[in-house]
Amino acid sequence: MSHPYEQYLKETLIDEQTLQQRVRELGETISADYADCPDLLLICILKGGVMFLTDLMRHVHVPHAIDFLAVSSYGVGVRESGGQVRIDMDLKAQVEGRHLLLVEDIIDSGHTLRFVMDFLQARHPASLKLCALLDKASRRTVDIQIDYTGFEIEDKFVFGYGLDLDEKFRNLPFVGVVNLDALANG
Ligand code: IMP
Ligand code: MG
Repeated sequence: MSHPYEQYLKETLIDEQTLQQRVRELGETISADYADCPDLLLICILKGGVMFLTDLMRHVHVPHAIDFLAVSSYGVGVRESGGQVRIDMDLKAQVEGRHLLLVEDIIDSGHTLRFVMDFLQARHPASLKLCALLDKASRRTVDIQIDYTGFEIEDKFVFGYGLDLDEKFRNLPFVGVVNLDALANG
């Protein structure tokens, strides 16, 4: 049976089992690092980070809270990034004096995360770290330190596992490379 996403899939980049294994490892590392942390807050960046957050938190065995921050980037093409960043939905939680761990799907130029980290740092958290599932390191134009990285990937446009293709297919349990020809024709 064929699925609607198949026409846009060039190849599977990271399969479900590999993803789940790595997410478990990240959760265990984070659990060890924050073992004595009294007030951990995982902050998911919407919408791309949502699958990653929900899987990751199952493996974070330190008591923690979660919250959500929605951001969007403007000023450049749809499949480019690096323009203006805007906060679409702010956190509900107070963050002053708390230990924050940002959970993001992918770091590309680094623009979005630089903006978000500066935005949060201004509220004086006790600490602020970054966990990103995917790192397109070769695309970086803004200096940013990723404390926990799932996978470093090549400069290819990917979708699935939280990442969208024109807002769809975030539900796929794997990360796939987009077939740009199919996208251009359809
Ligand atoms: P940055 O500001 O250039 O680091 O862009 C980060 C944001 O761009 C991510 O949070 C994603 O929303 C989006 N993005 C970057 N690369 C991809 C991709 O390959 N597929 C889907 N979204 C992407
Ligand atoms: Mg994102």
